[in-house]
Amino acid sequence: MSSEKAAPKEFSRLFSPIQVGPITVKNRICETTNSPGSAGPESGGLIDEHFTEHHVAKARGGTAWIGSETWPLNSPLPPGAEQEFGEGGAALAFAPYMFPGFVDAVRKFCDAVHAEGAVAIFQLTHLNNAFGASTVPTVELYDLVPHAMTEEHIEFVMDTYVEAAKKALEAGADGLEIHCAHETVPQSFLSPATNKRDDKWGGDAEGRTLFVREALTRIRAVIGDKLALGLRINGEESRQGGYDLLQFREMVYIIAETGLIDFVNVDVGHCWGRHAYVPPSYHNPAEHREAGKAIRTDLPESVKILFSGRVNEPIVAEELLAAGICDLVGMTRAGIADPEFPNKILEGRLLEMRRCIGCNRCISEAVHSKKPGPFKRPVCSINPEIGQEVLWKETFKPAEVKKHVAVIGAGPAGLEAARIATLRGHRVTLIEKGRKVGGQLLLAAKAPGRDSFEDYLYFSENEIERLGIDLMLETEATPEFLLELKPDVVVCSTGSEARSPAEVEGAESSNVVQGWDVLAGKATVGDKVALYSEDDYFETPNIAEALAVKGKQVTIFHKWAQIGKEIDRYSFGTVMKRLEENNVEIVGGVRLSKVDGDKVHFISAYSGAERVFEGFDSVVLVCGSTPNADLYYKLKDNYPFEKVYLVGSAWLPRRLAEATKHGATIGLEI
Ligand SMILES: Cc1cc2nc3c(=O)[nH]c(=O)nc-3n(C[C@H](O)[C@H](O)[C@H](O)COP(=O)(O)O)c2cc1C
Ligand code: SF4
Repeated sequence: MSSEKAAPKEFSRLFSPIQVGPITVKNRICETTNSPGSAGPESGGLIDEHFTEHHVAKARGGTAWIGSETWPLNSPLPPGAEQEFGEGGAALAFAPYMFPGFVDAVRKFCDAVHAEGAVAIFQLTHLNNAFGASTVPTVELYDLVPHAMTEEHIEFVMDTYVEAAKKALEAGADGLEIHCAHETVPQSFLSPATNKRDDKWGGDAEGRTLFVREALTRIRAVIGDKLALGLRINGEESRQGGYDLLQFREMVYIIAETGLIDFVNVDVGHCWGRHAYVPPSYHNPAEHREAGKAIRTDLPESVKILFSGRVNEPIVAEELLAAGICDLVGMTRAGIADPEFPNKILEGRLLEMRRCIGCNRCISEAVHSKKPGPFKRPVCSINPEIGQEVLWKETFKPAEVKKHVAVIGAGPAGLEAARIATLRGHRVTLIEKGRKVGGQLLLAAKAPGRDSFEDYLYFSENEIERLGIDLMLETEATPEFLLELKPDVVVCSTGSEARSPAEVEGAESSNVVQGWDVLAGKATVGDKVALYSEDDYFETPNIAEALAVKGKQVTIFHKWAQIGKEIDRYSFGTVMKRLEENNVEIVGGVRLSKVDGDKVHFISAYSGAERVFEGFDSVVLVCGSTPNADLYYKLKDNYPFEKVYLVGSAWLPRRLAEATKHGATIGLEI
């Protein structure tokens, strides 16, 4: 089977078909398993229309390999023990594959994937903090010590692989993958850091791979040659005592020698620390490609290598294939940001591609979301349709009455409101007082390692041109101006302004500046900088780093114990590493009270005692922002517009995803 459309020459490898065991995969683009929890709250843990719309959109968009979401398997809990839930993992008494209706739901999903010419590969997973090879925490980040598995536990787990494999076969899956990477139970057997056993399941590479080889043997006995079989494995551990690239090669060689596998899906890193398997924007594309190259070199051609890790650009994917790094390329977040991207490449519509910016909001939402069940949905910062696919099918329709819409402010919320309203047939005038579109995102993109954020702005600029949105730059949208313009509807996406903390003596001093002004190049600072932070996200470390790389000596004074508490665990290690490399110091638990020459006074957040630090040339404030809703309140009810909307941070400063989603929602409503 080959791709229906001829691929452009420069992407000929990416769009060539490949045989993986018994299955033909129409191109090399893979959605590796990613579990944002896209099934609706009423699904009872089964695949439903929300799940199907979310993943099949990628198949429809041209992705050939659909890894969809992981299958958590059940654990050998002792009688009376509660199920254990950790961030991103669980030790379950009952797994979804045991529920009635599971096979039918999976079959429907497989049919939908096949109808789009793609293959459905499922991942079998034991991911929890309760069981491990030995009593060493699998996730270094948490202080949870697992129960060391007995022969009986291992036998139980082997049975779960067998039972789940039977269901996959019955449901018409194309392939199975044992999850042996990340913080899974099999990973705990592979790693010399966590496997301290002295029985046959531990010791050297032979012993440590036995768990995986046994699981593969049992699964193969069920599926025969009908399904492709492989494993997902971490190419190199970034933890004390963990395996290195050479030890990884040895283990994979031993596993492949069994002749049981058709593919190896390799990524690098843990869910924390320097190397994270969901690499944020600070990392180079395919930074750990050597892991793919190593096993591609070692293994027979019949075993295909799938590599992933921040490949968001088709040309990088093509290069990886050309360089013999791998045979298949994971482009998972690339497909979240733009499920249609493969077809856009095929159709020569590269300018329309919305590239993943590496902000990691998707994985953050999947793992750390504080929203209660019914409200938790998959999220992408730049693709507002994510998690709303079913709703969009109903609402993304041509507008019944075409209107003239004025959108004031071309930050992310305004850009999305303008784009979606235009796509629905409205005539849109987008008015921006600055010289460029982008709003706060223009600032964010100026921080080191965040330049990829500009990709979203290139996308938006291309869309403005493609859709014929009337863009007015360097224009102040006063009420009088709008009266002359005569729009039917006005959308106020007027953004927010950098906030100063209340009740700080000396806050008006010339050596006190806003972090946003530093990024914008509007404020200069001296050599020794006190950065006062009331921000829990990326702004504080990003501004500190932007200053430090310019040779400033930066100390962060943060309002509470730890900076970056809202940063996802996959990005946090990298962010902190960069601060460490730039000698940025951090003082936690202080509230700014006074700036007096080179002295900066704080009040302890814990005891209320005064703490004074001296020798600072400048104080930089990073304290979030306040909504700029003045225009909205002026226009609302006082002017003859049909409706005035308030969107994005002009309503409430939050994250990028909230801004784009709010803008898009208004674009759908008008
Ligand atoms: C929301 C989300 C959930 C994920 N869940 C899983 C999972 O269940 N199993 C897994 O092996 N990898 C999971 N991953 C990791 C991805 O498969 C992939 O390796 C990672 O996103 C890096 O590839 P990319 O740069 O192409 O996105 C997840 C990633 C995301 C973004
Ligand atoms: S949320 Fe961010 S990292 Fe995730 S897919 Fe969207 S742009 Fe990429």
